[in-house]
Amino acid sequence: MRVAVFSAKPYDQTFLTRANSANRHELSFFDVRLSVDTAPLAKRFEAVCAFVNDHLYADVLEQLHASGTRLVALRSAGFNHVDLAAAERLGITVVRVPAYSPHAVAEHAVALVMSLNRMTYRAYNRVREGNFALDGLLGFDLFGKTVGVIGTGNIGLIFANIMHGFGCRVVASDPFPNPNAEPFVEYVPLASLYAQADIISLHCPLTPDTDHLINADAIAQMKQGVMLINTGRGRVVDTQAVIAGLKSGHIGRLGLDVYEEEEQLFFEDLSYKVIDDDQFMRLTTFHNVLITGHQAFFTAEALTNIAETTLANIDAFESGTGTLHRVVYDKQT
Ligand code: NAI
Repeated sequence: MRVAVFSAKPYDQTFLTRANSANRHELSFFDVRLSVDTAPLAKRFEAVCAFVNDHLYADVLEQLHASGTRLVALRSAGFNHVDLAAAERLGITVVRVPAYSPHAVAEHAVALVMSLNRMTYRAYNRVREGNFALDGLLGFDLFGKTVGVIGTGNIGLIFANIMHGFGCRVVASDPFPNPNAEPFVEYVPLASLYAQADIISLHCPLTPDTDHLINADAIAQMKQGVMLINTGRGRVVDTQAVIAGLKSGHIGRLGLDVYEEEEQLFFEDLSYKVIDDDQFMRLTTFHNVLITGHQAFFTAEALTNIAETTLANIDAFESGTGTLHRVVYDKQT
């Protein structure tokens, strides 16, 4: 099939080309994000391959459909950026990579916890400048602390297991408790998780229920000085509310790999530009905030799995055999 690959960075090209070694499909790489403006690039491509910040809303899908696209192959697990109702109406099949490396994301969440706790990102700079003072670097033992995990699917479960390994008590909230979590996770109501947890990590998808789940009301229920980690989706957190929480000291440490307005920023080198997102820039001024640019998934294993599953999805769609990891429109949501 002819496949238009959007948001195609050099690493995407490397891994997808490797997975397409038999040249089963004709891949054309476009560095730009998919949007109303760039959709014409996909003219006469039967398949479009997209990533997390590409727009797959009704207007874009209509354009793609009109110019011959029948398949949208997401290189992500999340599909909150796709108008599934519009895709179904247009007869466009949407496929995804359901789990490419839950370990990559869970381990990155742990990295944020560890760095924020011991402030290694500050220590790195201090030592390079000959400043060996320890003031401001005080951490706490993870052993014996309570960790709250919101969403115990593939990633949340691995995160919970690692934190349990540190000797933490793990409490969790999930509308569908994971039977594999039972030995080391205690499910509690969300309000109870907020009240007990020293560290809260978000591993739920972005849905109407989780949109701004972490708002002023939720933060008010959390422990004073709580550490909050978000490697899920940016909009699960109300950024204004966490900025207020940081200013008041209610939030003691914040680790973000995702940000609600990230599509204007992440995956690009903007170091030579003026960044006009004042909210984001405010976040970067806090000494106790650590932000990474949606890199939690970024391991060699994950990129290999993403590329191989994406190509297998396209094979299955074209041949009508094999496993198609289809995203089905749920009329209830
Ligand atoms: P998953 O589908 O295996 O697990 C999600 C869990 O969240 C499920 O158990 C579900 O029942 C639960 N959930 C749904 N609504 C909830 C709510 N209101 N409260 C609490 N739990 C709720 O998904 P997986 O693979 O663990 O991924 C989780 C999320 O991580 C993805 O949806 C995606 O947004 C994000 N992600 C981030 C990446 C990154 O690089 N930062 C990479 C991959 C995924």
